[in-house]
Amino acid sequence: MTATALDPFSLMLDFRSGALSPHTSRTERHLSDMKGSYYADEAALGQLVQSGDPLVYEVLQYDVPEEVGQLICCTTVLHPGTVGDEYFMTKGHFHSVRDTGEVYLGLSGHGYLLLMTEEGGRSASPMGPGTVAYVPPYWAHRTVNTGDEPFVFFAVYPGQAGHDYGTIEESGFAQRVLRTPEGPVLR
Ligand SMILES: [Fe+2]
Repeated sequence: MTATALDPFSLMLDFRSGALSPHTSRTERHLSDMKGSYYADEAALGQLVQSGDPLVYEVLQYDVPEEVGQLICCTTVLHPGTVGDEYFMTKGHFHSVRDTGEVYLGLSGHGYLLLMTEEGGRSASPMGPGTVAYVPPYWAHRTVNTGDEPFVFFAVYPGQAGHDYGTIEESGFAQRVLRTPEGPVLR
């Protein structure tokens, strides 16, 4: 037996708000945490940071040991908004251990799951309440809120996966989702 033996437990998840009770960590990402290559419109980003620095998303997680055999549960609440024409999004990441996948379950609100590989693969899946999306090993993943209400989803991923944000921070993501009069458009 290599994984830490834990006692069974259960959590309560509010599908509307994404509240996970109990949770052991809560991570907030404000727009000021997303300077760099995230949003194309740097002027719009600077203005929004100066005028209140809105909360873009928060992640509630129940932590277990980060080791093979464990599964980590979290909910993400991605708030509605835009930077210029670009919808609010998560930073996006590869898993540090590349050959680990993840499962997403949409709970409320609407958005996109953007995926890409280091070899140039790309994918964009619409997500809403009830959508179960599979993130295969080797695919970086980012979510985008294309609605007017919080986009809330639940995720489960392997304990050893880890997060590599740096690769996306440096080189960006393969696709952007922009607000247009005709609705969200992928670029
Ligand atoms: Fe992940």
